[in-house]
Amino acid sequence: MRKPIIAGNWKMNKTPSEAKELVTALKPLVKGASCDVVVCVPAVDFAAVKEAAKGSSIKLGAQNVHFKESGAYTGELSAKMLKECGVDYVVIGHSERRQYFGETDETVNLRVKACVAAGMTPIICVGEKKEQREAGYTNALVSYQTLIALEGLTDKEVAKAVIAYEPVWAIGTGLVATDEQANETIGVIRKAIAGKYGKATANKTRIQYGGSMNPKNVKGLMAQSEIDGGLIGGASLKAEDFSKVVGFDKE
Ligand code: 13P
Repeated sequence: MRKPIIAGNWKMNKTPSEAKELVTALKPLVKGASCDVVVCVPAVDFAAVKEAAKGSSIKLGAQNVHFKESGAYTGELSAKMLKECGVDYVVIGHSERRQYFGETDETVNLRVKACVAAGMTPIICVGEKKEQREAGYTNALVSYQTLIALEGLTDKEVAKAVIAYEPVWAIGTGLVATDEQANETIGVIRKAIAGKYGKATANKTRIQYGGSMNPKNVKGLMAQSEIDGGLIGGASLKAEDFSKVVGFDKE
């Protein structure tokens, strides 16, 4: 059985004082959660979140990592830097990074390898655009994005990685994939992993859904057999909303 993982992706939101406030409010609300709880926050918030999350099971995540160990890469952060700040998870290849910052499948793979080598867990984002779904390319595209991102990892590392299936058309739009659509595409991703790394490995890899997931639709999505969690944008910015997503299995 795969343990569900609910991760908030704050994107470019929350100053350190706001981060402290949010995590402080979140802490009692997610106590006793049955899933892994992660908040992926701007790097300037790492210290505040780490401090505020003390004594809870809330894990710290970053939103990107550079693939070089060090050097003349102004503005970038290495895996070693993140690790030393207490980061456990790193969102890699988010569609916003692919769309606005020119990230490619190849650089996503380099980032994944750097992240894993430093002992952190990648949350690898894949997903199709609206026109790609309409043209019938979804399955081929998400399979390719997933396999190239994982290239060079061992079976064991693949089993520990997290994939986030985020249809681009569902991000921040209020349009959510139907439970069946999300389940089906995540099944396709798992099949692609099984084809290369074996069924036993694919059955361990956790695959989240992301895209307008919220307290109202989380139950239906999480009831699907292939969906192991969520990557939450907008609804992760309020403690009450996020805690309701985390508590999807409670009344
Ligand atoms: P929303 O939940 O705001 O649609 O964002 C999803 C997302 O991009 C998480 O990474």
